[in-house]
This record gives sequence, C-alpha cells and structure tokens, in this order.
Amino acid sequence: MLTFYLNSLENTQAIAFELARVLLPGSILWLSGNLGSGKTTFVQGLGKGLGIEGEITSPTFSLIDEHLHGRIPLYHIDLYRLEPEQVQSLHLFSYWQGSDFPLGIVAIEWAERMNHQLPPHLKICLSPLFNQFSDLASKQEESRQIQFIPSENAEHQYQAAIAHLASNFSHFS
Ligand SMILES: Nc1ncnc2c1ncn2[C@@H]1O[C@H](COP(=O)(O)OP(=O)(O)O)[C@@H](O)[C@H]1O
Ligand SMILES: [Mg+2]
Repeated sequence: MLTFYLNSLENTQAIAFELARVLLPGSILWLSGNLGSGKTTFVQGLGKGLGIEGEITSPTFSLIDEHLHGRIPLYHIDLYRLEPEQVQSLHLFSYWQGSDFPLGIVAIEWAERMNHQLPPHLKICLSPLFNQFSDLASKQEESRQIQFIPSENAEHQYQAAIAHLASNFSHFS
C-alpha cells in the first residue's frame, strides 16, 4: 500500500497523469471515496496522461464514457446511481475481457455498487484531510489523502506502477 498527502487538486492530477503513463492495457482502477473526494478529478488526470484531448466529465448520468482517442482506451464508469442488480445488466466484464472492446484502462467510481467481485484491480482511496491546526483555511479544502491498494492477486500486476509513483512523489509521503 502506498499513501500520499496532497494539498492541491493539481497534485492529485499530477499523480494520476504519471500513473497513466505506466499502466498497461487491462488495468482496472477502483476509485473509492465520498462524493467530492476527487475521483472524477483523478480520472481527468489519467486522461491527460493518456493524451486524451477534450474534457473528461463525470459519467454519473451516462454511466459509462468511452474515451478512445488516447494512447490506450479509457473506460470511465460511475455506478453511483445504480443498485447492484442494475450493475449486472451493464456487462462491465466486456471492458476487461478484451473481446468486444479493445483492452484499455477501466476506471470505476462507486464500484461498491457491484455485488460481484471485481477481477484483480488497483483500489485508489481518496479522502479529505482536515488539519484543525492549520491556519491556511483555503488550502485545507484541497487537502486529500490518497492510497493505492492492489487487491489480492494483483500485487505483482501493479508493483511497477506503485514503485514508479513512490519514487516520483516521495515528497508527498
Ligand atoms: N486535492 C484535490 N484532489 C481532488 N479534487 C480536489 C482537490 N482539492 C479540491 N478538489 C476539488 O474537489 C472536487 C472533487 O470533485 P470530483 O472529482 O467530482 O469528486 P468525486 O468524483 O469524488 O465526487 C472538485 O471540485 C475539485 O476541484
Ligand atoms: Mg465523480
């Protein structure tokens, strides 16, 4: 597990940018954290790292946004509005099987809504940090803790990406 402490949205996006440069097609990212914690913001950074042009917005209503014009495809999924039974009808497995769609990076917000387990994946947990002793009130709003936790059986798959982040962003640890 890798943990960073960030004090701006630019830092969050810089980490996502760098992660996108080293992730392989077939990677599955579970973005975890409350509303407003920065999950979509993180995916915007991933998009930049993949060379995707144009704005990445929240797929809360579209459910799945397919960004196909970057270095590798980015499938951005938001399950917030769904019940677990509805998630099944989306056939999300087609995004990581590589048969119906070219393999890419699958980034899922609110994967908590799935009642079946995700295949081996990298969980990315975002949460606000409140520093009651700080007098920089405006900066506090931008403070986040971010953790990278490979699922069981995925330690090896994401080892290089996590090591890359750890060495590039040691000043955030
Ligand atoms: N360090 C940070 N990382 C990510 N987002 C931040 C940060 N600081 C402030 N923000 C703001 O928090 C909000 C996060 O919104 P969003 O990414 O849509 O969250 P979520 O997808 O988790 O609901 C945005 O308005 C963003 O500008
Ligand atoms: Mg979101």
